[in-house]
Amino acid sequence: MRHDEKRLPPPSGMPVDIDSNLSLIRIFDDLGGMQTPILPAALLDQITAITQERLERDRLADHGLPPSRSAILVGPPGVGKTLSARWIAARIGKPLWVLDLTTVMSSLLGKTGNNLRRVFDYAKEHEAVLLLDEIDAIAKRRSDESDVGELKRLVTAILQEVDAWPDTGLLLAATNHPDLIDPALWRRFDVVLNFGPAQAADIEAAVRRYLDQDLPAFEPWVGMLCFSLQGQSLSEVERTVIGLRRQAILSNADAGQLVANLAARKSDGMDKSGRRDLAISLARSGTMSHNQISDLTGVARDTLRKYAGPSPIKGRGFKRG
Ligand SMILES: Nc1ncnc2c1ncn2[C@@H]1O[C@H](COP(=O)(O)OP(=O)(O)OP(=O)(O)O)[C@@H](O)[C@H]1O
Ligand SMILES: [Mg+2]
Repeated sequence: MRHDEKRLPPPSGMPVDIDSNLSLIRIFDDLGGMQTPILPAALLDQITAITQERLERDRLADHGLPPSRSAILVGPPGVGKTLSARWIAARIGKPLWVLDLTTVMSSLLGKTGNNLRRVFDYAKEHEAVLLLDEIDAIAKRRSDESDVGELKRLVTAILQEVDAWPDTGLLLAATNHPDLIDPALWRRFDVVLNFGPAQAADIEAAVRRYLDQDLPAFEPWVGMLCFSLQGQSLSEVERTVIGLRRQAILSNADAGQLVANLAARKSDGMDKSGRRDLAISLARSGTMSHNQISDLTGVARDTLRKYAGPSPIKGRGFKRG
């Protein structure tokens, strides 16, 4: 379980798998409040609209309109799909119920359809916000020929359940593999939320958020840290930043040196011109001496002086650790 996960014991009567007696639903309760996911504005607007439709459903009803009943969240791992589902539920004032299809299907496949129906019935009755996580799991199982008939019935069961889902609840689904989703299923969701790879501005916002109370110690190195984390998901950004903070606290290491080690590893993986661009932008940011930058990137101090002017700070080089 992640450090920020708050799970509740299941309410009585919640469906369990008959063979294993394990709960088929996980519950996230973020009703105490949670921070807004860091996302591009257009996507966040789309997500906020879903919650607003719920909170102001009477205004829609005056015009004969229901709120959207369902949404599918699509994107690579670690970009905030599950987090956003939790946020939506919290804003609506409900816990998030998660049905992990992999878990459901790991029980005897012949019983999956029953399990599924019981979960949907229970969720409808409780007007829940229900997330079908890893909805592509069914499609993945298709490779096993012996399961084909059963899996077809399962897809049909899901299609029927999505169709019959009432607007009193909210049905969400998440996937990393939109290409594996049956088009008939895809079509049935009212809203499609596309999560792309994290943009530079989002990485910086996440770095600042996850540095939290240690931000002042790392402030001069935020630019370099963001650079080192380019191309990573916000989930990886979080893991790296929390790791750095632990190291800084327990080993009394200098924040600048820790970030420099990270940047050095990143620059090792770059070609010559990439390293030069990195070195020049670090020099222009004025947070490190030319000696330090040169040690990190292998770019000559003369080059830095030529493109970024004289070193603004005097400082010894970094140890490469
Ligand atoms: N957009 C974001 N804003 C803030 N934090 C994020 C964001 N994306 C990821 N994180 C951090 O990473 C963690 C994992 O993200 P999450 O579980 O939502 O990813 P996911 O898209 O559901 O990935 P997967 O496809 O692997 O299930 C979150 O709990 C959060 O701490
Ligand atoms: Mg997820």
